[in-house]
Amino acid sequence: MTKKLYIKTYGCQMNVYDSERMAEVLEGYEQVESPDGADMILLNTCHIREKAAEKVYSELGRYKDLKQANPDLKIGVAGCVAQAEGEEIMRRQPMVDLVVGPQSYHRLPELEARARAGQKALDTDFPEEDKFEKLKRRPKAQRGPTAFLTVQEGCDKFCAFCVVPYTRGAEASRPVARVLAEAEELVARGVREITLLGQNVNAYHGEDGGETWGLARLIRRLAEIDELKRIRFTTSHPNDMEDDLIAAHGDCEKLMPYLHLPVQSGSDRILKRMNRKHTAASYIALIERIRAARPDLLLSGDFIVGFPEETEEDFQATLDLIERVRYGAAYSFKYSARPGTPAAERPDVAADVANDRLQRLQALITRQQRAAQDAMVGREVHVLIEKPGRMPGQMVGKSDHLHAVHVTSDALDVGDLVKVRITDSGPNSLAGRLL
Ligand code: SAH
Ligand code: SF4
Ligand code: F3S
Repeated sequence: MTKKLYIKTYGCQMNVYDSERMAEVLEGYEQVESPDGADMILLNTCHIREKAAEKVYSELGRYKDLKQANPDLKIGVAGCVAQAEGEEIMRRQPMVDLVVGPQSYHRLPELEARARAGQKALDTDFPEEDKFEKLKRRPKAQRGPTAFLTVQEGCDKFCAFCVVPYTRGAEASRPVARVLAEAEELVARGVREITLLGQNVNAYHGEDGGETWGLARLIRRLAEIDELKRIRFTTSHPNDMEDDLIAAHGDCEKLMPYLHLPVQSGSDRILKRMNRKHTAASYIALIERIRAARPDLLLSGDFIVGFPEETEEDFQATLDLIERVRYGAAYSFKYSARPGTPAAERPDVAADVANDRLQRLQALITRQQRAAQDAMVGREVHVLIEKPGRMPGQMVGKSDHLHAVHVTSDALDVGDLVKVRITDSGPNSLAGRLL
């Protein structure tokens, strides 16, 4: 009989992709939407901030009753908390049967068998073999119009606050041929938009018969796939934004005019302490070059407030940078000290000061986000329809600039790429009329 698998995913898009692959590798299971009645629960976890890591333990606490009701239920922890804490998870929460790191999940079937046999199963190695090669090929079922495709993993940048280099290991790129094969397969299953993923996706250096391809060349090659209509990539580091990738934003039509390019702070003093290896001015100069290639580019970013020793003056420099750049979207976080990172040793900014800065920064970002959205009213945009909306006859999709757009029409199907005129801008989405 088919067993039931419930996966809960936290963290970044790379975890979303990994969860899909984990569901595929576990044969004999079908994925379900609720933990009730599941035979296996997998938490795919994130370790980036303290809150993210703590969520895992509170979620596990909730499964106590389920485990008591069904002793055959197996509980697994995957992802970055699994990598960072390993066996400690089983000590803190003895009902966990299985712990698997992000580099070893192709070994899940073996681990699952061991857990079924009543043993504790743990694998947090960084194995030599390529996990993607070992993974079963994706099943042929039809799927939605958008998909993630991991092309690069790991990070060598070692920003002073960040756990990713420890949980995901060194930078590594998947070979060109495998990326192309996976993209072709996704397209054959109905995918029209692919977002290439990597912790540092623009550091992509994929092998192809002795040659090394950068991300721009990969994007141009993917753009030759007829049925693939849109390409995006995330997340990028400013120092890896090479000339040909900037040029691709100007001349590759399928590459969408949206770029997530985190800067973290606008203060050179803090950037240096963060080990970012760029300055505020070099970031702004880079943005100007990308905008020269693609004037209507919508930018998004990440910011950390309350990094150790951040003064009001440093924070003001971050607000100034945001004013200069004008973001279409941004994610901002209060600094969270992570065990094992260099910044964790330094004195914290007082919590009330950090909270106040976060609120001020978010207010500015919200204004910019609304302004970018409002500026779309009256414009013609393309929308890739993703799903029905809440109102009858309404469909929702994403514009080239990644705005959610509601379109009312009976003639639309999921997967249609249509031209609309934007008629209205709401708090989180736009409305458009079919042209
Ligand atoms: N590889 C990406 C994203 C890494 S994690 C990059 O380099 O941009 C996503 C975001 O989480 C980071 O950009 C940063 O803004 C935030 N972040 C990472 N570590 C953090 C910490 N210790 N405290 C608060 N925010 C953090
Ligand atoms: Fe973390 Fe910095 Fe690497 Fe991004 S570039 S994953 S913030 S260490
Ligand atoms: Fe979190 Fe790991 Fe992604 S720490 S942000 S799930 S790489």
